[in-house]
Amino acid sequence: MGSRSCFSAFGLLLIAFQFITVMGANLPSNKCGPNVAATDRDLINFALNLEFLEAEFYLFGALGKGLDNIEPSFAQGGPPPVGGQVANLDPKTRRIIEEFAYQEIGHIRAIVKAEGGFQRPLLNISKEVFATIVNQAMNTTLSPPLNPYANSVNYILASYIIPYVGLVGYVGTIPNLVRRDSRALVASLLGVEGGQDAVFRTLLYERAPNETVHPYRFTVAEFTNPISEFRNRLAMCGLKDEGLMVPLQLGAENRTTSSILSADANSLSYSRTPLEILRTIYGTGDESKPGGFYPNGGNGRIAKSFLSRRH
Ligand SMILES: *[C@@H]1O[C@H](CO)[C@@H](O)[C@H](O)[C@H]1NC(C)=O
Ligand SMILES: *[C@@H]1O[C@H](CO)[C@@H](O)[C@H](O)[C@H]1NC(C)=O
Ligand SMILES: *[C@@H]1O[C@H](CO)[C@@H](O)[C@H](O)[C@H]1NC(C)=O
Ligand SMILES: *[C@@H]1O[C@H](CO)[C@@H](O)[C@H](O)[C@H]1NC(C)=O
Repeated sequence: MGSRSCFSAFGLLLIAFQFITVMGANLPSNKCGPNVAATDRDLINFALNLEFLEAEFYLFGALGKGLDNIEPSFAQGGPPPVGGQVANLDPKTRRIIEEFAYQEIGHIRAIVKAEGGFQRPLLNISKEVFATIVNQAMNTTLSPPLNPYANSVNYILASYIIPYVGLVGYVGTIPNLVRRDSRALVASLLGVEGGQDAVFRTLLYERAPNETVHPYRFTVAEFTNPISEFRNRLAMCGLKDEGLMVPLQLGAENRTTSSILSADANSLSYSRTPLEILRTIYGTGDESKPGGFYPNGGNGRIAKSFLSRRH
């Protein structure tokens, strides 16, 4: 059924397009270093782009309704997300996703209270967006396309795509914050974001990295490793993202091939800059070229400053 042999001409086109996009990106000279001069307010508000995405994806997945149903004022008049739906989850997974959904609402409240926030950007959380990311990551065209809302394992695989990006973003943000209260807030956001990522990765690992994901012939590890590699390619700043199974030289102390938590040679969290994050979440490898979950790009001063640089 779904396999590399089903690789289609459309898939090839997508990959070619991706390749050209990534290679042809018009980059600022400092594409990986400290590359954004921003206030604490801008840096903290920037995180809302991801928090909105997570809130909507988890809320729809667990409950079939989004932020507009629970805390309508939080969107600050932004358009409703597109393509969210209730996921066919087992009871345990639904409880976890529901809790994470409410946690994201709390994160949005805390950020808005501290820094004012901004209007929710248009979010595309349709199954096709996830399927496209997975196909691009795996350099194939899965048949049927991976539908995150179809079952628990698909939903958790799709969730693997998101909180890690928030986590490494928070790790990258903290050293650039000036105020003590800003650092306290982001450290506390990071704690929960890291926890969410760890839960998803553990749930996937529990299914055994060598267990195939029905109806495909790929194992859980054969999904997560390419997704991590794909994010590394999009972000364009080296290896900062590891799948669930790694070569020994990437495992903790070079002594294990499991990678339930993605971390560097001293088992410290990787960090990413806002540019790296935008390249990743747009799925384009270009911080000035929106796409993926953000058809019109992110909101806030940082994301908008790159969008306005479009040629
Ligand atoms: C959402 O993404 C899907 C798949 O890429 C696309 O067909 C659809 O037009 C998008 N919707 C919006 C509003 O961007
Ligand atoms: C994608 O798959 C095609 C066909 O199997 C192959 O030629 C190409 O090298 C692959 N690209 C990457 C980036 O792995
Ligand atoms: C997965 O790997 C473990 C340990 O290597 C092995 O015991 C088990 O049989 C494997 N399961 C499958 C489904 O291949
Ligand atoms: C593990 O390997 C990496 C590179 O392969 C090396 O930089 C690192 O020092 C090694 N760590 C230990 C504890 O040997």
